[in-house]
Amino acid sequence: MKKKRGNRDNAQYYENISPVHHKDFIKLAGLDDHSDLKLITPQIQAAESLLEVGAGDGRVLNYLQNMGYTGQVTAVERSGQFFAALQESHGARYNLYHCDINDFAPEASFDLILWMWAGISDFTTEEQHTTIAHLASLLTPRGQIILDTFAHDAQPLNADEATMEQSFTVERENACLHGYLPSPEEIAGYAKEIGLTHCHHQAYKTSKDRPRVLHFLKK
Ligand SMILES: C[S@@+](CC[C@H](N)C(=O)[O-])C[C@H]1O[C@@H](n2cnc3c(N)ncnc32)[C@H](O)[C@@H]1O
Repeated sequence: MKKKRGNRDNAQYYENISPVHHKDFIKLAGLDDHSDLKLITPQIQAAESLLEVGAGDGRVLNYLQNMGYTGQVTAVERSGQFFAALQESHGARYNLYHCDINDFAPEASFDLILWMWAGISDFTTEEQHTTIAHLASLLTPRGQIILDTFAHDAQPLNADEATMEQSFTVERENACLHGYLPSPEEIAGYAKEIGLTHCHHQAYKTSKDRPRVLHFLKK
């Protein structure tokens, strides 16, 4: 049987992808103008501490800086090339960690955990479940996780191949990203098993009219 490709198999993609192509994909999605983050600005403002999972090229950190967010910001990024750039742009202001999110075991806990631009899709269904459980263990009692997904029944524009079973691949610079787009029902299922009893979903469209969903998970 063919081995299922998991999140670790995607690591090389983020080492190889040119930052220019990465930015092109942000524009293609209509996330360059932060249409996702504008919708959750009240939740960001209400949080005293925030963790970003997979900070990439700093799109979310730029937004936090520009909005004048005054809480504690921590971000985790596994890719060496993105982490080096983040250190330069945001290292003086924010707490940055170069590691896998599942190896991240901080002493602090967080009022808000952001996992944006469908970062969860880089994981298999089993990994999505265990990673959300790990994130839930990092929440303060009043904390919540907000994660973004691309609509599970639509076709990602940057995909070279997409199937009816919510899986897709993106090939660039001799590396391949394998993704799985979870549905709101699947996210609700993970949340229920983990004991995150509050779970709701907000469908939205980006400025490029692309269908996405924000998921809000709380204890
Ligand atoms: C789609 S990008 C999202 C970037 C950013 N959050 C945004 O919204 O613009 C996903 C990022 O997650 C990082 N990533 C993927 N798996 C990771 C893991 N297991 N631990 C930490 N970072 C990871 C990738 O290297 C990449 O930079």
